[in-house]
Parts: sequence; structure tokens; C-alpha cells
Amino acid sequence: MNPIDTQHTTPSGRRNFISRTAGAAAAIALPAPFVHAQPAKLKVGMMLPATGTFASLGTAITNGFRMAVAERGGKVGGREIEYFTIDDESNPAKAPENTNRLVQRDKVDVLVGSVHSGVALGMAKIARETGTLMLIPNAGADDITGPMCASNIFRTSFSNWQPVHPLGKVMAERGHKTVVWISWKYAAGDESARSFKEGFEKTGGKVVKELGLPFPNVEFQPLLAEIASIKPDAVACFFAGAGAAKFIADYAAAGLKDKIPLYGSGFITDGILQAVQPQAQGLLTTLHYADSLPLARDKEFRTKYATQYKLQPDVYAVQGYDTGLVLAQAMESVKGDFGNKQALARAMEGMKVDSPRGTWTMSKQHNPIQDIYLRRVEGEQNKYVSVAWKALADPARGCRMA
Ligand code: BEZ
Repeated sequence: MNPIDTQHTTPSGRRNFISRTAGAAAAIALPAPFVHAQPAKLKVGMMLPATGTFASLGTAITNGFRMAVAERGGKVGGREIEYFTIDDESNPAKAPENTNRLVQRDKVDVLVGSVHSGVALGMAKIARETGTLMLIPNAGADDITGPMCASNIFRTSFSNWQPVHPLGKVMAERGHKTVVWISWKYAAGDESARSFKEGFEKTGGKVVKELGLPFPNVEFQPLLAEIASIKPDAVACFFAGAGAAKFIADYAAAGLKDKIPLYGSGFITDGILQAVQPQAQGLLTTLHYADSLPLARDKEFRTKYATQYKLQPDVYAVQGYDTGLVLAQAMESVKGDFGNKQALARAMEGMKVDSPRGTWTMSKQHNPIQDIYLRRVEGEQNKYVSVAWKALADPARGCRMA
């Protein structure tokens, strides 16, 4: 932990609690002439998974966010950050209570979260009602930058529509005409399925079957048996985290790897390759990040991240980092005056972000306009192959920004 951060964790969290009152007592103990007026700390509530199938995604996002803040001496717009953390367990049923703890009890200025689309939808509802600034460092739920779009909600990652939209074109170019889609049945899986079908069927291909199982189940065998009996030209999928590693291993164990080529949105192979390196070789995916981008900015980021955390960064680390960048740039533009909400929102809308993934811009509906890359698994890397779609903007269907 950065020594100047103050960290609070709810009873469901697992990190140390350092009392705010201890800090206040220390400040009171100083003789008055030596007290320099410090701007109040900015309270940031990090609502991310620390347990379950998406736990490592939550860690990478936290690491990236803290790295961006640390690069600015631990301050955004001249203000230190006071962190409040909650393990949301990727459980949408607990999202309202967890969000309210941060907003009503801890009175955070900014909500950062989450990974799971269902959790983020619950958070966004409360952010809309209370006007709390919400920055989404992963969850792709299309509605958040569609019908639920709001002046105080910004996404720094992707919409579920974005990463798989170019995949249909990629697969058609490889001669595939019939495809089975498979994913978890919740917002991220269902919306990815819709976007893939839209992109693939435009090319004349056909999604012959959509298969699904509830999140976060990993009983893939019956569905893999169904794929074997359908014998499509190829399979496309959405899975992420530990469940994605299990799917790749089971796909190979079912004898499908060399018979029916597997493709996916890049979440299927990001951050999990150490676990399934042999079974994943050659897998083609589309995503807004790759491990070997020809960008000096990315090389610098990767070296720094690996040195600091003894881990290779992945797309989630980049999204966390970019969330820190967006907050810092916006806070710098208002000189730390968080109360100036209109100017803060104006600074974020249309913001150019100099990201390790490549420069992207924030759309009017508050979602990144970004390049989507084609990647191939080689060794333990999602190697950059080409730009599958330049500057792809989410259609943001139904967004009427107030
Ligand atoms: C989602 O639920 O939106 C999601 C989770 C993990 C990776 C990508 C998307």
C-alpha cells in the first residue's frame, strides 16, 4: 500500500483497517503555527471482487489504479486519496447494500467498480439516484452507456458490444460459415452473444446454436458434448477469469481443440494463460489490448507494472490504470475542486487518454472509442496480430444524456 494512502475496508473486506480518527488526532496534536492547510482527501470507494472466479481481475484493476495515482505522488489534482474497499463477490444481489455502504455510510466522493455487469448495473442505479461520480473499470453492461447513461457515470473499459463485434468479420475471413456460441447466461454473456451474431451474420454466416450456463458455473461437459454432435465450422465464446481457464482446459480434454477451432472475446485468454498455456496455443481472440503492442507507452507500462507487482499486466490492469488516469486528468483540470461537477464531467467527456492500450477518447455517452486488436496465443502471451477494427465506438443505443 502506498504509505500516504488511508485504507478502510468493510467487515466483508480483507485488508487492514487504519482508523481515520487516528489521522485526525495526529493532525490536532500539531501546534497551530505549523499546521499547513491541506486540501481534504478525495474519498474513493473501490467495489471490486476479491473472491470468486473474478478475484484476480479485481486485484489487477486495483494494482493498475494505484499505479496511476502513485505516478502522481499519490495525489489527484493535488488531493490525496482515502480508499474504501469492498469485496463485491461478483454477486449482483449484494450490489445495492454494498454500494449504499460506500455512498451513505462512508460518504465516498467517487465509486470505482465493478467487474461483473450485474453488479455494475446495481451500482449505476444508485449512482444515478445519488449523483455520485461512478467510474467503471471493467463491467461492459451495454445499458449503462445506453438507456441508463448519465452525466455522472463514465466507463474506462468497453461495452459488451465492442470486443466481439469485430470477431464475426475475423471468423468469416477465415472461411467459417456455421458457428456455435457459448457463454455464461448473464448480461455480459447475453450481450456479447447478440453483438457477435449481429457482426457474424452480416457477413452471411449463421450462428446455428447459442449455448449457455448460469454464472459462475463451470459444468461444461454436457455443452461440449452438444458442440461435438452439432459439428459447427467453429465455436465462439465469452468467459473470463478462473472459469475461462477451466473452459479452455475442458475444451481440449473433450478432444475438440484440434477438430473445431475456438475463438472468443479476448477475456477468454487474458490473465489466465499461465494455467492453460498448452491447451490455449493458437487461440484467436479480439480485444482492446494485447501483450505485445508496438507502442513505447505500453512497453514502459509493462516494465513498470511487472517490477512493482511481480506480475505481468493484463487488460484488467490497463483498465484500472486508465481509470486512475481519467480521474487524475479530470481532477487536475479543475485544480482539485471536486465540487465543480460540471467542469469535471466536461473534462472527462471527449477526454483523450494516453493509455498503454493506445490512445482512446471518451465518447459523448461516456464509453471509450478505441481500437480492437486481433491477438493469437503464443506461449504465455496474447500476441498482437493486427488492428481488427480502428476506433470502434459503441452504438450507445437508447442513451439520452440529460
Ligand atoms: C462483465 O461482467 O461485464 C465482464 C466480466 C469479466 C470480463 C468482461 C466482462
